[in-house]
Amino acid sequence: VDHLLGIKYLNKKDIELIFETADHFKEVINRSIKKVPTLRDTTIANIFFENSTRTKLSFELAEKRLSADVINFSASQSSVKKGETLIDTVNNILSMKVDMVVMRHPNPGAGIFLSRHVNASIINAGDGAHEHPTQALLDSYSIREKLGDVGGKNVVIVGDILHSRVALSNIFALKLQGANVKVCGPKTLIPKHIESLGVSVETNLKRALEWCDVANMLRVQNERMDISYFPSTREYAQQFGVNKKLLDSLDKQIVIMHPGPINRGVEITSDVADSNQSIILGQVENGVAIRMAVIYLLAAKK
Ligand code: CP
Repeated sequence: VDHLLGIKYLNKKDIELIFETADHFKEVINRSIKKVPTLRDTTIANIFFENSTRTKLSFELAEKRLSADVINFSASQSSVKKGETLIDTVNNILSMKVDMVVMRHPNPGAGIFLSRHVNASIINAGDGAHEHPTQALLDSYSIREKLGDVGGKNVVIVGDILHSRVALSNIFALKLQGANVKVCGPKTLIPKHIESLGVSVETNLKRALEWCDVANMLRVQNERMDISYFPSTREYAQQFGVNKKLLDSLDKQIVIMHPGPINRGVEITSDVADSNQSIILGQVENGVAIRMAVIYLLAAKK
């Protein structure tokens, strides 16, 4: 059985195939008939042990647009609360003839663990601070759409790199496609030895923005934070938040991205998030086509 557990397990050709397939689905979605009958015989369970707005709804919509049957499971309303284990939970769901599982979980490696114990394709929808592969795919796809190509572009990922699965998956995806990648944030929120992934570190936001074609602004993940790491929110916003004045002081128009959810006024001000340099809602739109492509390609391998 094939899975999508992380970008770490993909190569450049895999990413190109996902993008070409997503191009096709984006074209389908943009027509007035948004649905294809492709996965009429497939049942998919979305199991979320952590909160989500974009990823959960985007997967559900992608599945429905492929005509799959969909069931949704939210851990907080389930028998997990009565002590049922992850493997028991998933095996019970699979016994209802489910073919594929999309899972978000707070523990890094949860999808990898599950893939070794159950007989279904697993798609990782975010595992703790580890990976969020479909987010990185839709991010690169959005850069490709905006700038024509990812290869050779300068991309800075700004913020809480230490706790971010979006950062790690983006680094893997961007490097595979030949982008130049910098990370920028407070030293306390940048993992030691991150240079071993082929990225450079910049702690001055203005310098990082002057260098880049694309800035991907990340949220500070307070929920994963040991409080001693954190500069105050005000200090963070002053040093690492992007605002219109800073953006206008650059001698070029960079592309602004954010995976969401946004903390307006912290890592990004409203006048930047809602500006014509921002492709934030375009990223969300592309998420559906990317997830349709991933599900379609995994189902075709079965
Ligand atoms: N970008 C992202 O994963 O958002 P959600 O947490 O709302 O799914």
